[in-house]
Parts: sequence; structure tokens; C-alpha cells
Amino acid sequence: MTPTMMVPRTEPATRPPSDGKLELLTVLRSLRPASVLDVGCGEGALLRAIAADGAVRGVGIEPEDAAADRARAAGLEVRPGRAEALPFAEDSFDVVTLEYVAHHVEHLPRALREAARVARRAVLVLDGWYDETLPSQRVMRDLDDWRKRIDRRIGMVHNPCPRPRDLIDPLLASGPLGIDYACRLELSPRSLAELEAVARRHLEAVAPSPDLAVELERILDDGRLHGCTDAGTLLLTARFP
Ligand SMILES: C[S@@+](CC[C@H](N)C(=O)[O-])C[C@H]1O[C@@H](n2cnc3c(N)ncnc32)[C@H](O)[C@@H]1O
Repeated sequence: MTPTMMVPRTEPATRPPSDGKLELLTVLRSLRPASVLDVGCGEGALLRAIAADGAVRGVGIEPEDAAADRARAAGLEVRPGRAEALPFAEDSFDVVTLEYVAHHVEHLPRALREAARVARRAVLVLDGWYDETLPSQRVMRDLDDWRKRIDRRIGMVHNPCPRPRDLIDPLLASGPLGIDYACRLELSPRSLAELEAVARRHLEAVAPSPDLAVELERILDDGRLHGCTDAGTLLLTARFP
């Protein structure tokens, strides 16, 4: 579904690649694929990185025209489409990647089944992850979920970050895959004042919502008590035998 309103971003558009993205690229390169499909490729950062490797055929799927056009302007092959119905035959690519896309798709199990159908050798999934045993992480997760509730109210598909089992169960149902995953956390503190300012702007994007306002105050109180630390990453690799 296309967003019906613009909402403030929580991060600058041009931040450097995160550790998770670098890790995904490292795992991807270690698989030495001849072809890669990047689902929800956005402006094509991952495709650009693998294009620089030479012999890899990289193709992107991207439903948002503006992002797809920017990727094409950089010489990348990007087709319109959605993760839930990939316009490719079975086994079309060595590796299929979903980089920060799993929490955007309307039907995650279907998207993962599609990725496994189209992949010959492996599916890689990278997304945000919170360590719920840590109070400062629970604050950030609550804030993330709160922000996504607003986004859903204005028409976006923006779901909580997937847990490992949200990825594993549908992938295993697709066939005899070997799965490994790593949840990675570096506890970098975030400024509550900055997060609060962004959250309050976000709240203004929807009609007055007492429930959301009350929930935000609770989260901010928790943040004052426990602090806030950045999301970690979940990187999952599913390999066909
Ligand atoms: C957070 S961005 C990540 C972009 C890119 N993968 C990256 O890591 O820089 C999420 C991307 O998923 C795309 N997207 C949203 N819904 C999708 C769907 N159902 N199927 C495929 N891509 C989707 C969005 O248009 C957006 O480009």
C-alpha cells in the first residue's frame, strides 16, 4: 500500500551503511553468487555494492516508483513488483535478499515463501531487532512500535520488527532449508530529547489521538528511567542443501 501522507523520518536519509548492512554484504559475498535478487531494493545501495564486485547479476524489485527510478538512473536493473508475488520463475537467482523489508510487507509468510521459491541457493534477511531483556531496548522497541502504529493509521504497511521465529517458520515450511541467524546488539545510547522531538512531530501527522499521546508519555517516562539504546540487527541466512 502506498503511504497517504508524508511523515517525518527518524534518521537522516544518507546515513552510512550500518553494521548489519555490512554484515549482510559480507555473508552475501561469501556465498559467491552469480545472481542476486534484492527484494525491496529501494534506491539500490546493495545492488550497487555487488555491481562493484563484477560478475554478479543483480536485479531489484521495488514497488515505489521514485526509489526505483533513482536506482535505474544509476544503471541498475529494477523491476516494479512486491515481495508477496515475485515476477520470476522458480530458482531464478542464486540468492534472494530482503534488507529492512520484512517489516514493510503486508504478508510476511507469503513474501518469505516467494523468496525461497525464486532462490536457488540461499535467502538472506536483515531487519531490526531489540533485546527485550534490557529495559533501554524495551523503551526503543516500544517507541518503534508506537511510531509504526501511527504509520499504519495513515495508510502505510509498517509492522513491528520480525522475531526470528516469524522468519524461520515460513522458510522451513518452504522446504528443507538449513537456517542460521544472529541477533547483534551494540548498546549505543540515543538522546531521549531528540527521540521525543521526532516523536512529537510524528504525532502531529495524525488526527488528535489521546490513546497515542498517553502511550507516548508512558514510553518517555520509561526512557527517562532506563535510557534508550539503538536497535540491533537480526541477520538470517537460509540455505538450500
Ligand atoms: C526501509 S526500506 C529498505 C530499502 C533497501 N532495502 C535498503 O536497505 O536500503 C524498505 C523498502 O521496501 C519497499 N517495500 C515496501 N513494501 C514492499 C513490498 N510489499 N514488497 C517489496 N518491497 C516493499 C519500500 O518501497 C522500500 O524501498
